[in-house]
Amino acid sequence: PGVPFVGGDTAKQRDLAADTHEAGVALTTNQGLKVSDDQNSLRAGPRGPTLMEDFHLREKITHFDHERIPERVVHARGAGAHGVFQVYEPLTDLTTAAPFQDSAKETPVFVRFSTVAGSRGSADTVRDVRGFAVKFYTEEGVWDLVGNNMPVFFIQDAIKFPDLIHAVKPEPHNEIPQAQSAHDTFWDFVSLTPESAHMLMWLMSDRAIPRSYATMEGFGVHTFRLVNAEGRARFVKFHWKPLKGVFSLVWDEAQKTAGKDPDFHRRDLFDAIERGDFPQWELGLQVIEEEDEFEYGVDILDPTKIIPEEVVPVRRVGLMTLTANPGNFFAETEQVAFHVGHVVPGIDFTNDPLLQGRLFSYLDTQLRRVGPNFAELPINRPLQPVDNNQRDGMGRRQIDKGRVAYFPNSLAHGCPMQSPEAADAFRSYAEKVDGAKVRVRSASFGDHFSQAALFWNSMSTWEQDHIAAAFSFELNQCTDSLVRQRVMDDILGNIAPDLAQAVSARTGLSLAGAKPHPPSVPDVGRSPALSQDRRA
Ligand code: HEM
Repeated sequence: PGVPFVGGDTAKQRDLAADTHEAGVALTTNQGLKVSDDQNSLRAGPRGPTLMEDFHLREKITHFDHERIPERVVHARGAGAHGVFQVYEPLTDLTTAAPFQDSAKETPVFVRFSTVAGSRGSADTVRDVRGFAVKFYTEEGVWDLVGNNMPVFFIQDAIKFPDLIHAVKPEPHNEIPQAQSAHDTFWDFVSLTPESAHMLMWLMSDRAIPRSYATMEGFGVHTFRLVNAEGRARFVKFHWKPLKGVFSLVWDEAQKTAGKDPDFHRRDLFDAIERGDFPQWELGLQVIEEEDEFEYGVDILDPTKIIPEEVVPVRRVGLMTLTANPGNFFAETEQVAFHVGHVVPGIDFTNDPLLQGRLFSYLDTQLRRVGPNFAELPINRPLQPVDNNQRDGMGRRQIDKGRVAYFPNSLAHGCPMQSPEAADAFRSYAEKVDGAKVRVRSASFGDHFSQAALFWNSMSTWEQDHIAAAFSFELNQCTDSLVRQRVMDDILGNIAPDLAQAVSARTGLSLAGAKPHPPSVPDVGRSPALSQDRRA
């Protein structure tokens, strides 16, 4: 059967549909042989043993035996949809990136929402961060904006990511607990990792239990770069603003729903698209001039910090509409391979140490999870032809023609390979980098509590109540008294005394004496730490 696209029919969807197998009338083996009986194996007599020569039985069962690929090491549980992105007006002053050049053009997208910690079969409504990954199929290649529904992250350096994830996943000896937080190991880790304080506030807030995917914000988290045709670069933070507004569940609803309908978010997204109630988000940009890099009192390379929207307003530049469900979950949602390193001309990276590590990790994990030729799969391949000297590998589909697979060469007459000097090729932004090799965190990353406190102070009374209740629920599950006390003293006590007080009232823990966190950098914008970093 063809892929049942309900909404638009974008170039990407046509591409996928063309790849879909049209089932014939007769059932065949993988070699195209018509099968006489698919329900009885070949036996020596009606009650006799099954014969080894039954190639149809063997092919059917062995293919089934190999159906699973490894689930994602994180973000294993997810749901996806096709759609389009359209910019409101050309952003040629800011960037050459293809989706932003023409307001009449629709760029096909595929979006995957996910939880982080749970396995592929876990429940949707757990307390967790949500992934918000968008693949743009542009005419200049694939651009992936691989974000979350929270604007900051737990750690400042990718080298800590395996530690964070090992702490958040079930404990290795008994694979308990499967619930996302409510963990001795998680609270142990974060109590010893003060840079996670700001993210903890988001995680204990109602943002971590969204009502639906359609009512979540999305964030690129890191500071990226936009580069225009003159080669001028500006810093940018990406935002997705849901047109339906931001809504959450309350904890009691979330817990009950996890039991009654573990597919709650997945079903909601699928059903909404089927009935034509297409989810929409506006893409927002916070643009920062290069010369203003140090103006905002935080280091814009630190992924545990936001630039408040009151300080740098979010400019809404375009609309994304999800119009069609995947025709096949495995082929599309499971095999889709997002990567922060998939960029197009006009988008570039910064030296955020978390982003830098991610640039390595995604390709690496996808080579293992989906295989060396994952980019050839219909959901991953770009709209335009791919032409390079890579070859072979497990599952290769492309049949490369010609005699040479190297460059430079003089033997490839008629070879369509473009010169690497093509005018519209991607060129990395020529940022000047000059520094001593050190394993040192910049002092400008040192203030871990100001924005956690800012978050707490910006909440209404009932939101604060939910946050205090969430911390208390979690700490009451935590079995290690030293860990509980450390969360109180070293984290909550440093964020806000009234938060610590509210948690104390619900847990019986008392604030034994907050250990003030030493590196506090009150005016980072003009601090010697930052300017020194720049000189280094
Ligand atoms: C997967 C976001 C940090 C490694 C994902 C996905 C999202 C995401 C949305 C799911 C992609 C999908 O739907 O297929 C983020 C954000 C981060 C972050 C916003 C921080 C700001 C990191 C870091 C690492 C990492 C620091 C490693 C150093 C991975 C891996 C996957 C993944 C290995 C699985 C990818 C796959 O198997 O396809 N991340 N992540 N992430 N992330 Fe991250």
